[in-house]
Amino acid sequence: MTLSSYMWPVRKVTRQTAGSVTLSLDTGGSNFYYQPGQYVNLTATIGGVDYQRSYSLSSVCGVHPFPELTIKRIPGGTVSNFLVEQAREGMLLKIDGPLGNFILPAERSGSFVFIATGSGIAPLLPMIHTLLLGENAVVTLLLGNRSVAEIIFHTELDRLQKQFSGRFTVSHALSGESPLPRGISGTTGRLAAGWIQHTLDKRMPGGIPEAFYFLCGVPAMMENISAALLRLGVPETQVYREDFDPAATPAIPPLQHERREVLFFFEDSVRLLEVEGGSTILTAALAAGVPLNHSCDNGSCGACRATRTSGSVTMNRNLALTPEQLLAGDVLLCQSVPVTGDVTIEVDRWQ
Ligand SMILES: Cc1cc2nc3c(=O)[nH]c(=O)nc-3n(C[C@H](O)[C@H](O)[C@H](O)COP(=O)(O)OP(=O)(O)OC[C@H]3O[C@@H](n4cnc5c(N)ncnc54)[C@H](O)[C@@H]3O)c2cc1C
Ligand code: FES
Repeated sequence: MTLSSYMWPVRKVTRQTAGSVTLSLDTGGSNFYYQPGQYVNLTATIGGVDYQRSYSLSSVCGVHPFPELTIKRIPGGTVSNFLVEQAREGMLLKIDGPLGNFILPAERSGSFVFIATGSGIAPLLPMIHTLLLGENAVVTLLLGNRSVAEIIFHTELDRLQKQFSGRFTVSHALSGESPLPRGISGTTGRLAAGWIQHTLDKRMPGGIPEAFYFLCGVPAMMENISAALLRLGVPETQVYREDFDPAATPAIPPLQHERREVLFFFEDSVRLLEVEGGSTILTAALAAGVPLNHSCDNGSCGACRATRTSGSVTMNRNLALTPEQLLAGDVLLCQSVPVTGDVTIEVDRWQ
């Protein structure tokens, strides 16, 4: 299977904060399996134009009866404002997925630290919930927001802290509150490296380098915190990141390669694509008039996912496919260049 596409109505809209909503999707009985941390690509039609954006699944498959997405308004943002203001019960949304390799490791014991700002909590909540339902993980969440009123899932986080007291602790960094409101544990100000170190030292003395870290938000925040964690002795392999603003991540130019032909199956048609040196298979397919799905063009949204059935390709960057999907032959066409002359690619948008 290459890409799973659905048209699902919104089942329920739950307002989380003044600027965020959770949409519960009616799958109509489709068998939709997803892992905590994965996301979908949502297509919204606004003023007759289709816009595609990625949104993390904020529910836990098998625990919550319907998949849920939680969207926070970005100032001036086209899709987030539309959904926060206008999403209604019954509104039809095109959903592609699930996608993403920001998932929990197989080993789920020991210390897990989650660090996010704003809507970055969306993929982290199902990961936290899943770990707590197991028995061996000790979980810390460090969450940055401007104010108490802007904390998405505040009530749910309090509930989980009570239910799993001793195994789950939340500390807030609130940049727009001073002093810290009563009942809130944490600090005033932004998520700063010094405060993170101080909080983790208290929570797991001497244990910072052993823990697994999951960071979610915009690139600048994650760069700073990843760098601080590396300085504290955390191996890079224990730091997992989900970038919510891939447009701010510079694209990597395609690898150089010789001009090659690629046999390309698209729905019911087949053609031989000429992929020029320094160009990707996506570029060649679009130039040949194939109406392929693509969105970010930088390896992070997964919209251009396809299956390689023979030959060898190299990808510049993969922020979307899991190791299992790679093993099954999935590739991101916007990042793929042919390495051998016998490459065959299959795309079936309707599976
Ligand atoms: C894998 C992935 C998962 C995501 N999951 C979620 C989620 O669960 N909930 C959620 O609310 N958003 C999530 N996003 C972000 C989402 O896809 C959109 O980028 C966001 O809703 C803005 O879209 P827009 O159309 O409103 O803004 P646009 O009109 O596309 O952009 C407006 C401006 O905002 C910037 N921008 C985009 N995203 C952000 C951001 N998060 N913070 C600050 N600036 C930003 C853009 O660079 C642009 O300059 C996710 C993104 C990715 C890549
Ligand atoms: S278009 Fe987004 S990963 Fe290729």
